Amino acid sequence: MVKICCIGAGYVGGPTMAVIALKCPSIEVAVVDISVSRIAAWNGDQLPIYEPGLDEVVKQCRGNNLFFSTDIEKHVFEADIIFVSVNTPTKTRGLGAGKAADLTYWESAARMIADVSKSNKIVVEKSTVPVKTAEAIEKILTHNSRGIKYQILSNPEFLAEGTAIQDLFNPDRVLIGGRETPEGQKAIQALKDVYAQWVPEDRIISTNLWSAELSKLAANAFLAQRISSVNAMSALCEATGADVSQVSHAVGKDTRIGPKFLQASVGFGGSCFQKDILNLVYICECNGLPEVANYWKQVIKINDYQKNRFVNRLVSSMFNTVSGKKIAILGFAFKKDTGDTRETPAIDVCKGLLGDKARLSIYDPQVTEDQIQRDLSLNKFDWDHPVHLQPMSPSAVKQVSVVWDAYEATKDAHGICILTEWDEFKTLDYQRIFDNMQKPAFVFDGRNVVNVDKLREIGFIVYSIGKPLDPWLQDMPAVA
Ligand code: NAD
Ligand code: UDX
Repeated sequence: MVKICCIGAGYVGGPTMAVIALKCPSIEVAVVDISVSRIAAWNGDQLPIYEPGLDEVVKQCRGNNLFFSTDIEKHVFEADIIFVSVNTPTKTRGLGAGKAADLTYWESAARMIADVSKSNKIVVEKSTVPVKTAEAIEKILTHNSRGIKYQILSNPEFLAEGTAIQDLFNPDRVLIGGRETPEGQKAIQALKDVYAQWVPEDRIISTNLWSAELSKLAANAFLAQRISSVNAMSALCEATGADVSQVSHAVGKDTRIGPKFLQASVGFGGSCFQKDILNLVYICECNGLPEVANYWKQVIKINDYQKNRFVNRLVSSMFNTVSGKKIAILGFAFKKDTGDTRETPAIDVCKGLLGDKARLSIYDPQVTEDQIQRDLSLNKFDWDHPVHLQPMSPSAVKQVSVVWDAYEATKDAHGICILTEWDEFKTLDYQRIFDNMQKPAFVFDGRNVVNVDKLREIGFIVYSIGKPLDPWLQDMPAVA
């Protein structure tokens, strides 16, 4: 029986290994982590992450061929294939701070593998890492090898949160990079054999190590670039009377462009896009390519601009001040169908409004009060280090209350911000909400989920990203 061990039981390690276990009953899969609480949650009834379909997969395999454990050394020692799926956050200090990937967690995992291994291993990079990381890992392993042979593979993960199980069941492609030596090719084949249990062979691509590492950064940069492109257009739509949804539809009908990932929004969030583009920018700079670095930097600049623009639009519409006003925040997660708040645009929007002394009442169906208070108290990039590795929860932000119901959040509010596209926000009783709000009642839809005409009929003043402006807003000062 082939044994797999995955170091890191997070958003990637947990679901990915659960699907491998489900699809490959003859493989024993152990997912290990330094976090005792995270492993306890994987072994309990309430899994540590919310992901549609994940519960069923875990329940089918757990205890049969899928195990979650803190006994890292034992499982690494026994494994033939070791996936490393630890976090690779942005460095907060020292050389490359604010851009480069922090490989502390990766390096400590590699050193531990070298310490406990007594047989040959295939070590698979599952984390997103800077191009050439495999070389560094190889050096750490071979310099401490005591005669053991290691093959390093790069097998980046392309799942998106909220659709992780679907993406893993039916991936567009599985990418495996390895050394172009006979041993490297043999290792690639061993990993291909695992995926081939459910992924059609023509979707399993093999490349050299550096292409695989770089493709992951490139894919995320391209995806984020599409969003920044449509968001840049949304500002122009508002200035000209064009409707961004109509523009996206028309542009996306070109088969060379395609319809996906053209949804204008308050900005992209999530743990990957910003981190990976910053990492790409840093790599370009280190390789003497400042023009290329600046090109990609612009994707992040437009994303920051979009979040600022949203806050400025809100404040200027509400008579240039939100001081003491109650603003309801509907949605805090970085997208629907996840409880993940890493780099969610809601953090920047809320901080912007708090800076103008607003009172916030926040509702998200999947995010806890603790998490929201923590997010609003942390410095930029600190979030990217796992919660259990962070210092004690900072003190709560006093102007913020977190409630468990959209009607409660909006009661007596002066304005509503929709920051996550949860389906339930489409079908709220907006007449009831309007009746219970201060007047004039404002809606700022950062995800284009509401029916603008219907809400205007009820009496709301509505701003929806990239849509023709409400006559009320046209009279307000222009927003930069
Ligand atoms: P995560 O923070 O949810 O999980 C990482 C886990 O690794 C944590 O539980 C942490 O405790 C554990 N860990 C850290 N150091 C360890 C060590 N030395 N030994 C054992 N466990 C250790 O992160 P994630 O979202 O799963 O992301 C992991 C990697 O995958 C990152 O490089 C990320 O860029 C990449 N990625 C993420 C996504 C996503 O949607 N979240 C998608 C594709 C790729
Ligand atoms: C992303 C990549 O899609 C995935 O392939 C990679 O493995 C990890 O990073 P994820 O961050 O989980 O996945 O979600 P994604 O669906 O890409 O959304 C990222 C952000 O972009 C979200 O805030 C989302 O709301 C936003 N978005 C997405 C838009 O604003 N408009 C769109 O059209 C699509």
